[in-house]
Amino acid sequence: MMMMEMKTLLLLQLQLGVCVSLPPPSSVSISSFNMQHTLSFLPSLESPTHCRYAVQTVRLSRRKSWRSVAACSELMAGQTCNLTLVFKDPFESYLARVKAYTSSQTSNWTQSAHFQPLTDTVFGPPGLTVSGCGNCLLLHLTVPASGGLKQQLQLRDLYRSLEFQVKRTRDGAQYLMSVPFSEQVVISYLQTGVEYCVSVRVSGLLTSTSSLFSQPHCAFTSPPSPLDKSVLLVLGLTGALCALCLFLSGLVIYRGGRSFRRCSLLSALSSLLLRQDRGRPRVSSQTSSTQLHKDDSLT
Ligand SMILES: *[C@@H]1O[C@H](CO)[C@@H](O)[C@H](O)[C@H]1NC(C)=O
Ligand SMILES: *[C@@H]1O[C@H](CO)[C@@H](O)[C@H](O)[C@H]1NC(C)=O
Repeated sequence: MMMMEMKTLLLLQLQLGVCVSLPPPSSVSISSFNMQHTLSFLPSLESPTHCRYAVQTVRLSRRKSWRSVAACSELMAGQTCNLTLVFKDPFESYLARVKAYTSSQTSNWTQSAHFQPLTDTVFGPPGLTVSGCGNCLLLHLTVPASGGLKQQLQLRDLYRSLEFQVKRTRDGAQYLMSVPFSEQVVISYLQTGVEYCVSVRVSGLLTSTSSLFSQPHCAFTSPPSPLDKSVLLVLGLTGALCALCLFLSGLVIYRGGRSFRRCSLLSALSSLLLRQDRGRPRVSSQTSSTQLHKDDSLT
């Protein structure tokens, strides 16, 4: 019994003496944007350059043991650890810790602060396009892709509402409005033919989640509607046709001017038809014979 205890004590001392002699890393922190989580840390200045770093995490609600993150078991100084696929449950609380090690030595663990994905992430703005619709603006929103949320959860499932900042370009008058999240939103009761700029941000299911406003997207409330455009097109085509008609009739008048002073497209056409008529042999011979008879009778 004594021997056994002596042995374990010796082993412990050996482990402490040989292994825990590296200085631990510091500033272990987790940043998160759109539910993409990244762990970073600062290596100790006294650590040898061939030091490697390993990351472990734990789910707090399950009271489970620490688990190593396979992809982050041999990090070098300055590298970060992508925990997106590890912290998959947005409502869970997690901890992470980092240690330094070499082939013969290891450091103590340095722990992060508690991390709760839905509270600690920052929501970036959704994609936004703005177009005018008379006295209103039509907004289309697109949700950024989410990395590794569990059970087909999408980023939009974690959004509560949209906040718009609407600003009239002419005088800078602006107001804020908030609507339940939707991919298509109409902002009504605006002035027609006026430019507005719109910025948008989401608010999360938890009010504590922070989010960023988009750049302003500007549009006039009443651009030429598709109907106006087609009318313009028809008018333009008619104009072009008229110009062509004028040019052609002018040409006909000019060329026919020598024989007929009073000329138009119609008379040109009829003269053309008449000429064809005279060209027919039988008709022409008949007329010429009757003409002859008439002449005879007259003489
Ligand atoms: C490691 O932790 C132990 C106990 O918490 C402490 O006594 C020791 O000094 C630490 N080692 C280093 C290298 O920081
Ligand atoms: C982290 O991992 C997620 C899921 O695989 C991926 O979508 C994302 O691009 C990664 N982020 C970085 C910075 O590599």
